[in-house]
Amino acid sequence: MNEYLKFYEKYKISPVVQNIENFKEHIKRRNNLYRQLSVTPLAFENKDILEIGPGGGYNALVTYTYEPKTYTLIEPNTTGFNELKNNFKEIDKGNIYMFSGMFEDFKPNDKYDVVMCEGLIPGLTQKDEFINMIKPLIRNDGIFIMTTADHVSMFFEIIRKYMADLLIKDLLIDEQVDILVESFSSHLETLEGMTRSYSDWCLDNLIGDAVLEHTLTLQHAIELFSDDFYVLGSSPDIFTNYAWYKELPTNVKEYNHAYQKQCLEKWHTLFDRRSSQTERAVEANIELGEYCLEFIQAVKDKDAVINIIKILENIKLNLSSSFEDITILSIDEVIEVLQSGLTSEKIKNMRFFNSAFGRGQSYISFIRQSDV
Ligand SMILES: C[S@@+](CC[C@H](N)C(=O)[O-])C[C@H]1O[C@@H](n2cnc3c(N)ncnc32)[C@H](O)[C@@H]1O
Repeated sequence: MNEYLKFYEKYKISPVVQNIENFKEHIKRRNNLYRQLSVTPLAFENKDILEIGPGGGYNALVTYTYEPKTYTLIEPNTTGFNELKNNFKEIDKGNIYMFSGMFEDFKPNDKYDVVMCEGLIPGLTQKDEFINMIKPLIRNDGIFIMTTADHVSMFFEIIRKYMADLLIKDLLIDEQVDILVESFSSHLETLEGMTRSYSDWCLDNLIGDAVLEHTLTLQHAIELFSDDFYVLGSSPDIFTNYAWYKELPTNVKEYNHAYQKQCLEKWHTLFDRRSSQTERAVEANIELGEYCLEFIQAVKDKDAVINIIKILENIKLNLSSSFEDITILSIDEVIEVLQSGLTSEKIKNMRFFNSAFGRGQSYISFIRQSDV
């Protein structure tokens, strides 16, 4: 059982509920995502769709409006599965198949036109194995949509996770949530467009441990798919390719290589959503990646504050020549708060770090096109 399931089942929760009271707006937001991924509603219409780990199905409700032929949903968490059933109860046209179990135990007879897996793989320890089990289920010309999240894009969240661990040690879960919501609300308020409740966010990102597994880079995801899946799109939409289509490589590895290269060149753009920094040396990004990996491991190992600060100083140095002041000031503020003794009040009143969030999870879509 992975970290998500251990945590969700232990407390009988599914902390991925979204506020979709304004359903039209929700559809528009999802349309924005799919457009960036170059996957239009027609890609779903009258097609066989598989979604792995939909939680209560808040996003799946939009996918269903695109009128798939069949929609198969796999959700092992009991609370999430019950919510899913409930959300589809009144709208199911008889073409929805729900499997209440882990994807690893799902044995389909057929393949799918579109497979989606959102917010799940980065939190697993066996990421590559999980992805390799999905690939055979996708038809030729079929599409796969997944999310990645790594130590660079999640760095600021990992700092919050470290702070949370220090603050809530030995408390009961309800008290933990109360303290964390109180401490971090001023941070979450800076995120316009957030559709999850603050308590769900704190449960999922600050109390659960799956966030400490988030080391899945876009570059690695592309590498895993480069046998016969071409990169189709991404959100954020970070890739460019100026080649004349007749001069693009027709070999999938070489075609995807241009995208993999850009992942490294643009990795730092995932670090701080406030940054407008676009150009930076690849070597500096590789070094940043190494420090951020060291940082996530130190948080996992519950290292002493002094070690954590040492890594933060190295990251600051790495960023200093090319990032804006606000990023550096945010890290300085964290160091100051950790050195002077962390309190809920200090977290609440942070002036720079409160709005420091990386790009968190990225989406990437692939199209399977085997040799003709
Ligand atoms: C962080 S939630 C994301 C939920 C939803 N996809 C979203 O983006 O809002 C991860 C989901 O994956 C489900 N999950 C965990 N392990 C799984 C597995 N082995 N197979 C299928 N689903 C799994 C969890 O129960 C949970 O609902």
